[in-house]
Formats: sequence, C-alpha cells, structure tokens
Amino acid sequence: MKFFVDTADVAAITELNDLNLVDGVTTNPSLILKSGRDILEVTKEICSIVSGPVSAEVVALKAEDMIAEGRKLAEIAPNIAVKVPLTHDGLKTCKVLSDEGFMVNVTLCFSANQALLAAKAGATFISPFIGRLDDMNLDGLELIQDIRTIYDNFDFRTQILAASVRNANHVSQCALIGADVVTAPPAVIKALANHPLTDKGLEQFMSDWAKTGQKIV
Ligand code: E4P
Repeated sequence: MKFFVDTADVAAITELNDLNLVDGVTTNPSLILKSGRDILEVTKEICSIVSGPVSAEVVALKAEDMIAEGRKLAEIAPNIAVKVPLTHDGLKTCKVLSDEGFMVNVTLCFSANQALLAAKAGATFISPFIGRLDDMNLDGLELIQDIRTIYDNFDFRTQILAASVRNANHVSQCALIGADVVTAPPAVIKALANHPLTDKGLEQFMSDWAKTGQKIV
C-alpha cells in the first residue's frame, strides 16, 4: 500500500520524505489556505521534492473551466494528478484529461456508485472520504471495502486512494481491505510508530541499562 501525505506543508513533506514514507502528496483548497502559499508556487516546490503523484485540485465548477485549470495545473510538473470533484462536470473533466494522458484524482467520493462512475470516466485515483462519513455515524471503511469489491469484480484499474484519514486504525484497516493508497496528515503517519508497550518496554530497558553502569560508545 502506498502512503500519500495529505498536506501542502513543505517542511512536513520533507521530513517524512527523508524517511522514505512519501509515495505521493494530496492537497486541496483548504490545505492550500492553511499553507498560506500560492498554489502554483507551493505545488511546484512539492513536485521538486516528491517524485510520485502530487494532487492539485481545480476550483472551477463548470467542466470547460475545470479542464482549463487542470491543463494549467498539469503544466507544473509531469507528476501532477489533477484533482476534480465528483460531480457531472468533474466526471466530464476526468474523461477529457485522462484521454489527454494526465493523471486524474476524483475527490469527494462518498458512495460506491460515485466510485463506479469515476472508474468508468477513466480516473487514475478515486478518493473516498472515510473520516467525513464516520463523522456522520456512517461507516467510511465499509465504503472502502465496497469499492474494493466492485473494482475487483470488473477489473477496474482506478486506484482506491483512501482519504479523510483521521487515525492509525483507519490506516491498518485500509491496508487489510486492500486500498491501493492511503493519504493521511503528517501527524497520523508519524503516529503509526507509536505503541504504549514500546514506550513502557523502552523505559524498563533504559532503567536496567543505567544500573549496569556500562557504555557502548
Ligand atoms: C483528500 O485528498 C483530502 O485532501 C483529505 O483527505 C480531506 O480530509 P479531511 O476530511 O480531514 O479534510
């Protein structure tokens, strides 16, 4: 399973990339706002750090305008995946840009039927939002499982990019289900290393080691 980082924070991307934990990056208009940077400038910088797909989202609502924005975003670097919302105009944009050879990430997916449409429109990635479904007392992971089954039934090549990931359990469950990619905020990716028994065990080892009075270097 690939790890994408869900942020436009260049320092955080660099830190995780140095650990070989960044197979790609996803951004959205809210993350660009949070970064305080110009979209074209920050996306270009991210693409110079990360060689895998970097999603940059269109903000127009009509297909004609989305297509123009998508082409402009794709000029930033060869590893741009143009991110479009799961609307009729977004699907039309997906079909046009995919036919032109660009990677397309269809975002804001909340149902298996939406994922089916995105695959038929030639999407490279489908982004089902787990956390936002969980927030409504629905089951985000069940959606990932349903899409996995449907895509496997018909051999769709669209990659399932599990998004709106809020915790370590989301990551391990997505891996078990067989999501192709998980995109998560830097804090969630870092938290994957944490376990209270690791902390407790290390504390005991350190305490015992101090009693030996020895040094390694
Ligand atoms: C996905 O590409 C989105 O950027 C993101 O995962 C949304 O997550 P949120 O629901 O935590 O905002």
